[in-house]
Amino acid sequence: MITSVKKILTDAMHGGYAVGAFNTTNMETTRAIIEAANELKSPVIIQITEKTMEYAGGRQIFSIVKNMAELYAPEIPIGIHLDHGKSFDVCKRCVEIGFNSVMIDGSRRNLADNITITKNVVDYCHDKGIDVQGELGSVPYIGEMEAGEVDWDKYMTDPDEAAEFVEKTGIDTLAVAIGNAHGFVKERKVPDYARLEKIRARVTVPIVLHGASDWENGRVKEVVKRGVSCFNVDTATRVAFINSIIKTVRSKDEVSFDIRKLLGDAQDEVKKTVMGKMEDFCSSGKCVVHDNPKKHESNSAKSDEIGEE
Ligand code: G3H
Ligand code: 13P
Ligand code: ZN
Repeated sequence: MITSVKKILTDAMHGGYAVGAFNTTNMETTRAIIEAANELKSPVIIQITEKTMEYAGGRQIFSIVKNMAELYAPEIPIGIHLDHGKSFDVCKRCVEIGFNSVMIDGSRRNLADNITITKNVVDYCHDKGIDVQGELGSVPYIGEMEAGEVDWDKYMTDPDEAAEFVEKTGIDTLAVAIGNAHGFVKERKVPDYARLEKIRARVTVPIVLHGASDWENGRVKEVVKRGVSCFNVDTATRVAFINSIIKTVRSKDEVSFDIRKLLGDAQDEVKKTVMGKMEDFCSSGKCVVHDNPKKHESNSAKSDEIGEE
């Protein structure tokens, strides 16, 4: 069931667990994420970047996600989100296509410019009932980080600025930098837990952590306890997909010219990876599915259960 990202993450925030936001680039990855969510009864966010829109076509990839969500997981809350939108125009395009949430990533701008572009996107999106994620501080990619010792302070989210950013823009979810980085790269030895606590105390919206592919269970638990409600994962599923293909191609016995077998195996590996993350984030089992949603209609105003949305 396509569900508001704000609702999915607000439920997580109040429930003391987090939800995975998994990137997709194709049919197989999409199906893997949706099957994992359905089997584990886990809410999920499926996200698409600008590069994937260029690769697959924005409308095409959106239709794949929406059709599969409705077909394979009709009772599971699923959000469809633009990841790292860099301009007002790409956010607008995603809204026109049907995404129910967008990220405007102004994190490489100064605070004033980040507030201006984020607020413009919020005004446009809220008018149409679409949720918006903003980012303050900066979650680096490998190419952006200096070699050797990294000066993490220059990437970090400032808690006072976070309060101002959320208040002035009206965003629905906030991406923060507390020592996290994109890709399988060296992150800060210990995340800045004290900073996260200060941010949590200053803002009321759900907090999102990018670069979570290599976050093991211990760190995940520590930041969920301190208020993170969403983890972004892309590298881990890409690696699972590509490693599976390499393995199949290298294995002499398995060489086959059936693309469905090659990509089907890769899909299975992505699904296992997603399921592992859902267990780590404690989102599995968080959708209560009714046998017959109609039975509960009289309770719909009070209930958060998914059959009643
Ligand atoms: O943080 C976002 C992604 O991992 C980068 O994805 O290569 O589709 O832009 P992209
Ligand atoms: P990873 O590179 O750690 O998978 O992070 C993905 C991400 O943050 C997407 O926005
Ligand atoms: Zn990211």
